[in-house]
Amino acid sequence: MIELQGVWKTFSVGPVKVPALSDVSFRVTRGEFVVLTGPSGAGKTTLLRLLYREDVPSEGEISVLGQELNSARRREVAALRRSIGIVFQDSKLLPGRTVYENIAFVLRVTGTQRSEITARVFDALRAVGLSARAQAYPAQLSQGEAQRAALARAIVRRPTLLLADEPTGNIDDAMAAEIHDVIKDIWVSGTTVLFATHQARLATLLKRRTLVLEGGRLVKDQG
Ligand SMILES: Nc1ncnc2c1ncn2[C@@H]1O[C@H](COP(=O)(O)OP(=O)(O)O)[C@@H](O)[C@H]1O
Ligand SMILES: [Mg+2]
Repeated sequence: MIELQGVWKTFSVGPVKVPALSDVSFRVTRGEFVVLTGPSGAGKTTLLRLLYREDVPSEGEISVLGQELNSARRREVAALRRSIGIVFQDSKLLPGRTVYENIAFVLRVTGTQRSEITARVFDALRAVGLSARAQAYPAQLSQGEAQRAALARAIVRRPTLLLADEPTGNIDDAMAAEIHDVIKDIWVSGTTVLFATHQARLATLLKRRTLVLEGGRLVKDQG
């Protein structure tokens, strides 16, 4: 499902080289729920970006969903991304479109049939408990609702893998708990989940396998 072998990522900031990931290796098998934690600046976002090929490693091998990323062609990268759902700290909803349109959009761009789009969008909205808000605009949503809409958009193509980068970093505890429940439901329905959070307490609360990054090194893998 996911395999990293000796992965390094170094950023050049002027003359200075900053190692964001140092010799990271691990495997995630299909169906796992893995929490990726560590303090701010530990390399969590950098690692996730490598997994959906938004960036490339300085050294090392990565394979995701059976696709070796170093040798992946553009078409293969596009296919890989269609199988990955991603959510960020910010919902990144398009402000001028309704919730429904925000979610339908990702199906339209890949040419899904019109008749199937409605059914799929409402399936996704139901999965996140947001059916009643389909016609709302992002500005009318609470932050928790906006994140649930972002989750609906992430799962509407029925991804094999969900990557979540601090999806509850901006919202209060009660709403965050709802989001965690939704992500657990998505996992239970068969999607592999990699959930990044700097909140160590949350990692414990989720009671799943936890990878800990510190200064770009994988220092713990437990559970
Ligand atoms: N594009 C970039 N250019 C330079 N340094 C970067 C860049 N992206 C990340 N970094 C550095 O890499 C390290 C890891 O960052 P990041 O992956 O964002 O950590 P986290 O998500 O765990 O907070 C930090 O030191 C950060 O400043
Ligand atoms: Mg981050």
